[in-house]
Amino acid sequence: MNILLVGSGGREHALAWKIAQSPLLSRLVMAPGNPGMAALGEVVPVKATDVVGLVSLAREMAADLVVIGPESAVEAGLADALAAAGVPCFGPSQAAGQLESSKAFTKAFAERHGLPTGAYVVCDEAAAAKAALDRFSPPYVIKADGLAAGKGVVIAQTRAEAEAAIDDTLGGRFGAAGARVVIEEFLEGEIGSLFALCDGTTSMVFGHAQDHKRAYDGEKGPNTGGMGTYAPAPLFTDELVDRVRQELAEPTFAAIAAEGAPYRGVLFVEFMATRDGPRLVEFNVRFGDPECQVLMLRLESDLVPYLTACAKGELDRLPAPVWRDQAAVCVVMAAEGYPDAPIAGAPITGSDQAFGDGVVVFHAGTAKDADGTLRVAGGRVLNVCAVGPDFPMARKAAYGAVDQIEMPGGFYRSDIGWRALQR
Ligand code: GLY
Repeated sequence: MNILLVGSGGREHALAWKIAQSPLLSRLVMAPGNPGMAALGEVVPVKATDVVGLVSLAREMAADLVVIGPESAVEAGLADALAAAGVPCFGPSQAAGQLESSKAFTKAFAERHGLPTGAYVVCDEAAAAKAALDRFSPPYVIKADGLAAGKGVVIAQTRAEAEAAIDDTLGGRFGAAGARVVIEEFLEGEIGSLFALCDGTTSMVFGHAQDHKRAYDGEKGPNTGGMGTYAPAPLFTDELVDRVRQELAEPTFAAIAAEGAPYRGVLFVEFMATRDGPRLVEFNVRFGDPECQVLMLRLESDLVPYLTACAKGELDRLPAPVWRDQAAVCVVMAAEGYPDAPIAGAPITGSDQAFGDGVVVFHAGTAKDADGTLRVAGGRVLNVCAVGPDFPMARKAAYGAVDQIEMPGGFYRSDIGWRALQR
């Protein structure tokens, strides 16, 4: 098969790494890719939001399948344009993609269809938003309505912080994505990321993981796109997985189809395991980043048939995926200044050495000079991952590799998976 993979982050490097192992693959093209992905196939400098350029690339390479990595391509309508061009695509339509591209849409959708989630208010004007805080108690959850790369969420401990976040969001910090602000009830519990595939009709659970969204150790600091993941997380009992599937994923696939936008791709259900059961925190319409990295390390089955089946409406022909009986950990190495103002340019050394068994380093925000020097070129820079027979061994291997990588000014969390260590 000729496969075009769209995207350039750690999630896409992990997808490329797994796709490249498929016996079904003839040619892998990645747009725009990154220096790490370049080792796995051809990288072509077409941006993830350049819909016209990507459709023409898919046609030129006679792509049998296009795999959409990031939400920006979903929001740009890439799946719709590929459908019009007759190219099979793993990734939802722009209409179904509203489940991520608008938090206000998703909250109203959840309300319409009785999905369990917290109370909320949507405002496009600061005075009304500040007044609406009266209906909530601290901590206040303030979100930009649109896509903000995981940075549009503030958990404010005080009313003053909440008001500042409202001013910041509506004041243009996230551009058009912050034209509306969503204030949400804070849900108490443990957060989880569950993934479900759907081909428009048939769906199946496709793994789960736990992420650490705060920038610093001890769940402190600003929200990020995710600083590290591990799987399997003890949170995910069979009973909880079943409840998230039955109470959140399956009703969502049925409801979005009933609204005229059948879902094809992966739905990322971010939920809070509360005392009263799972409650929706938000949906994402793509694999999690860095959840995808640990999923791919643990996935024993060939990924390509699953991606193809979602694109072609054939998921009912496939068995549930097989996962390795191993633990996986991903530690994100981030640039100085991330998430607010990451500083690019620092040289990276040691990331391409042969680490021990089970260690894989995915590139997330890197660039290579003509002389081969690898440099920081994004907020999250490297994803240092490892699998091992159990969680402590996987974690030790990942941090052992982190210790051997030099990235001046960069930082990482040293407590990824602390909950699993405590249990
Ligand atoms: N790790 C969270 C996300 O992908 O949005």
